[in-house]
Amino acid sequence: MKRILSYGSLNVDMVYSMPHFVQPGETIAAFKMERFPGGKGLNQSVALSRAGAKVWHGGKIGADGKWLSDILEESGADVSFLRNSGSSTGTAIIQVAPSGENCIILNHGANYENTKEEIDEAFNNFTAGDILLLQNEINLLQYLIEKAAEKGMEIALNPSPIDENLMKMDLSPVRYLILNEIEGGAITGRKEPEEICRMLLGRYPEMKIVLTLGGDGAMYMDSESTFRQSIFQVETVDTTGAGDTFTGYFLAFVSEGKSVPEALKAASKAAALAVSRNGAAASIPVRADVMAAQLKEKS
Ligand code: RIB
Repeated sequence: MKRILSYGSLNVDMVYSMPHFVQPGETIAAFKMERFPGGKGLNQSVALSRAGAKVWHGGKIGADGKWLSDILEESGADVSFLRNSGSSTGTAIIQVAPSGENCIILNHGANYENTKEEIDEAFNNFTAGDILLLQNEINLLQYLIEKAAEKGMEIALNPSPIDENLMKMDLSPVRYLILNEIEGGAITGRKEPEEICRMLLGRYPEMKIVLTLGGDGAMYMDSESTFRQSIFQVETVDTTGAGDTFTGYFLAFVSEGKSVPEALKAASKAAALAVSRNGAAASIPVRADVMAAQLKEKS
């Protein structure tokens, strides 16, 4: 099993259950508000751990973030490279509509206070063949990619949330690009999943692309093969963190040598279970539950 350094964001998620997303000029009361652990980095580390991977989480919390570190540890992740800035932990204000869809406002907080020295210190403990997992919610993303490439580590990037900075980046050192069709569309200017993958492969021939397609499942493409996976049917409660669950499970399975179709299937099942529960990290299932779940694949 490969070792995984997951360097990424940790957020306090303030989740508002809403009758509908608030409109410009409108004031509406939420049905309820709950505080959950979140951040794409934390969610993906928790998913990796719950899927059985060997994961170290690097990143930064503020003085109010110790409980997020505890959650990572409880899930089985090593937090030796998690630092405390003494300022404020990142926060996310999340509206969840009755359909389970969400919209999110981020405040980076400590997630944008990572330093090169801290990153170098973490990298001293990893070597060629280990995996680095990244998302786009922390500072120094380009530096992390360059360091990992220098070391010969395999880089997996979930380019979420997509922004102009990321669209300008050279992604050639990235081995696994795990993204949704909106992000794929923004990077390539294409709409059709196949075209998105082909455009990306045209630019980055060595890349392995995993494109999630919402209700249409997911597809994988590299220079030699293409695989498709449909979704598993559940009652949707909250979609927050479903993509992170998918990413963590996919990478965990691939890192232990499972085939791409097996990894896609486990990731899709885990994401379906996450969608049927509230919260982001809180909704991520353990591997035994994923394996035991009797869910029907959408035909
Ligand atoms: O992907 C879901 C996550 O996005 C939430 O947990 C929130 O913190 C934002 O980072």
